[in-house]
Amino acid sequence: MDGSSDALTHLPVLAAEVLEALDPQPGEVFVDGTLGGAGHTRLLLKAGAQVYGIDQDPYALSRLGELEGLSILQGNYRDMVSLLAEQGVTQVSGVLLDIGVSSFQLDDAQRGFSYHTEAPLDMRMSQEGESAYDVINELPTEELAALIFEYGEERHSRRIARAIEAEREKAPIATTTQLAEIIKRAYPGGHARGIHPARRSFQALRIYVNDELGALRGGLEAASTLLAPGGRLAVISFHSLEDRIVKRFLKTNSQLEALTKRPVEASEDEQSRNPRARSAKLRAARKVETQLPGQQLTEQQPEQQASE
Ligand SMILES: C[S@@+](CC[C@H](N)C(=O)[O-])C[C@H]1O[C@@H](n2cnc3c(N)ncnc32)[C@H](O)[C@@H]1O
Repeated sequence: MDGSSDALTHLPVLAAEVLEALDPQPGEVFVDGTLGGAGHTRLLLKAGAQVYGIDQDPYALSRLGELEGLSILQGNYRDMVSLLAEQGVTQVSGVLLDIGVSSFQLDDAQRGFSYHTEAPLDMRMSQEGESAYDVINELPTEELAALIFEYGEERHSRRIARAIEAEREKAPIATTTQLAEIIKRAYPGGHARGIHPARRSFQALRIYVNDELGALRGGLEAASTLLAPGGRLAVISFHSLEDRIVKRFLKTNSQLEALTKRPVEASEDEQSRNPRARSAKLRAARKVETQLPGQQLTEQQPEQQASE
């Protein structure tokens, strides 16, 4: 049983496509900002690269054994510049971000990510800071509605927030299934088309608790700082809010040139083998080779003069 769930956790999404984008060469140094089960990292190591693997989840890291060429760093990938500086590394050949939660985290009922299984409301990947319990029981109703709307794209957010307010006035809302039931009762008709009525609200809560979009923005900035000229960046996102941030970042950052015009999606074959791959979108970019302003001037001037 354990063996098969491990195999699932290690099934890296869009593996061939990530390798093509990152193009690891023997001896090159990479950052895997979302180490998880080290599925992608194993492929980079196999290609002869050296990897600094970052994960904020102490449980995820405690499951990993030693791998030759891998240095494990616990922390948030948005802090990769300082985490790597502590190791004496200031430039790398590539950065990978495979964002969101892992199937290992989702499947561990006690983490409180799932609305299917009874568990304490937690959802903190890092085990630090405000938990889902704090947010659900303490955030003002208007703010709760706003976060469910913004991060869950849930149009019944106000109704849901008011239902939560009414319940928490009686007693604190303590578990995942209790919250899911409150949301279900608040939902018009008790169901959302095709999906569980609590799905969007749970997604919103998870994004808020872990500041996932803030981490992504910070992580993209940090990656573009850390990449050496010619270095590659690959980002796999799982919903439109994330993909929008990546797309906009690559469009506006003059240091990076996109390697993917459109997001790369998993093949039908991969999607049928790995349901998590269905919503995955990969975007990749390369850091431009920089020229010193002085160099440009002296090298271009004679050419310009000649053509004048
Ligand atoms: C989708 S999994 C990565 C799976 C991995 N690529 C593999 O092949 O095994 C995402 C991992 O990133 C971690 N994570 C998510 N956001 C993070 C952040 N801001 N900083 C550090 N780790 C993060 C999660 O704890 C989780 O273990």
